[in-house]
Amino acid sequence: MTTGTAEFAKRLDQTADDTEALLAKLLADTVEQDEIVRPKRLIEAMRYSSLGGGKRLRPFLVVESAAVFGVPRNAALMAGAALECIHCYSLIHDDLPAMDNSDLRRGRPTLHKAYDDATAILAGDALLTIAFDIITRDEIHRDAGVRLALTRALSRAAGVGGMAGGQMLDLAGEGRFGDREPVDVARLQQMKTGALLRFGCIAGAILGQSSAKEYQALDDFGRALGEAFQIADDLLDVEGDAAALGKQTGQDAALGKTTFVTQLGIEGAKQRVRDLLARADAALSVFGPRGDVLRAAARFVAERKN
Ligand code: IPE
Ligand code: IPE
Ligand code: MG
Ligand code: MG
Ligand code: MG
Repeated sequence: MTTGTAEFAKRLDQTADDTEALLAKLLADTVEQDEIVRPKRLIEAMRYSSLGGGKRLRPFLVVESAAVFGVPRNAALMAGAALECIHCYSLIHDDLPAMDNSDLRRGRPTLHKAYDDATAILAGDALLTIAFDIITRDEIHRDAGVRLALTRALSRAAGVGGMAGGQMLDLAGEGRFGDREPVDVARLQQMKTGALLRFGCIAGAILGQSSAKEYQALDDFGRALGEAFQIADDLLDVEGDAAALGKQTGQDAALGKTTFVTQLGIEGAKQRVRDLLARADAALSVFGPRGDVLRAAARFVAERKN
């Protein structure tokens, strides 16, 4: 049986609600052991950018890839919360005046608009750091080796060879550092966006101590889904509705970003999304019906309006 749109939406909503509740707890103003104080302005800023919005697709991918292997939901939610903290940090910094200079995020003023640049930088720093506090917690897995593998994978997805590196390539692609060189859009997007989404998919394989073949399948799936996600984002920047998106449109053209929309045109970019959707689907064949929810997630990514 395939997973229909309504069933998918219900599952995504449930994971979003559970993630919201977990993040609200993890980002409480009370200190954890060895912490000294959580300054009110900083924890409030972290909560502003982490609670009350977002599709929570990355935690969903962790939960559903973990479910393929029967991993306890609470463990997957915890790993998903860590990933979401990194995602929220990446959005805060992405929106800063020194980067994309965006005023609106998730339907509200961006963090630096609601607070100030310094608070936004520090809230990003602290969200990135707390992600590693969360991902190493005992409740993620009883085997410390599994927690270590997960932590390393997250680190590589977020860092210089992953998201942060991709953001660097994205800015360089605008030509803002002088030498505007030809942009390898696939690589740039694989890094700035694909790496965290792929992590969400392989997290289930790591937590579930899967076979090498199953890991590879989720890896392939995550790569295709990650690339499709950013192309869909770029298409929405051109064709989407700002109110539904909760962020400004037309920003990429204004900033001179190089995307598949600029390189292939709208129709070419849409075709690439369709090809990636087929690749994502094919990657899941090893799981049979156990892959149905992830299959629906790929369809959602390709068809989303927000
Ligand atoms: C936006 O990500 C940033 C990109 C990687 C394109 P999402 O579209 O997942 O943002 P939220 O979390 O739902 O707000
Ligand atoms: C953002 O890409 C990618 C990361 C935050 C790592 P975009 O700059 O296209 O994302 P939006 O459109 O601002 O959400
Ligand atoms: Mg950007
Ligand atoms: Mg941006
Ligand atoms: Mg965008």
